[in-house]
Amino acid sequence: MKLLISVCLAASVFASGAALASAELATKNKCNTCHSLDKKMIGPTWKDIAAKNKGKKDADKALVASITKGSKGQYGKIPMPAQAGAAADAPALAKWILAQ
Ligand code: HEC
Repeated sequence: MKLLISVCLAASVFASGAALASAELATKNKCNTCHSLDKKMIGPTWKDIAAKNKGKKDADKALVASITKGSKGQYGKIPMPAQAGAAADAPALAKWILAQ
């Protein structure tokens, strides 16, 4: 119940356009273990992902699929494991990443 409330809260804050809410989602879902805004770690930076997908039609949907199902071969040799636990937050995360 507590989780549900915080998810709803995070979603409504995001809807009002606060970037911080999704930065917190990235922390909550442990995306930051492998990603950062502009320092390459195990995964590509949020900025690299945004640049690669800039102007692509349905980029947010493609990123949601990559987040929930995993991704490989797009940025390097290391694949990203599926982040099934982040499914509910994936649309907000995808939009936030594309805005970096
Ligand atoms: C275990 C390390 C790891 C974790 C944890 C991780 N990622 Fe990744 N991520 C990667 C790697 C590695 C790639 C590059 C995969 C490739 O080359 O296709 C990647 C790629 C991506 C991409 C680009 C996919 C595309 O289609 O362009 C997105 C978006 C992304 N990650 C989001 C997330 C989000 C959001 C989370 C947290 C829910 C997360 N990642 C957690 C390692 C990780």
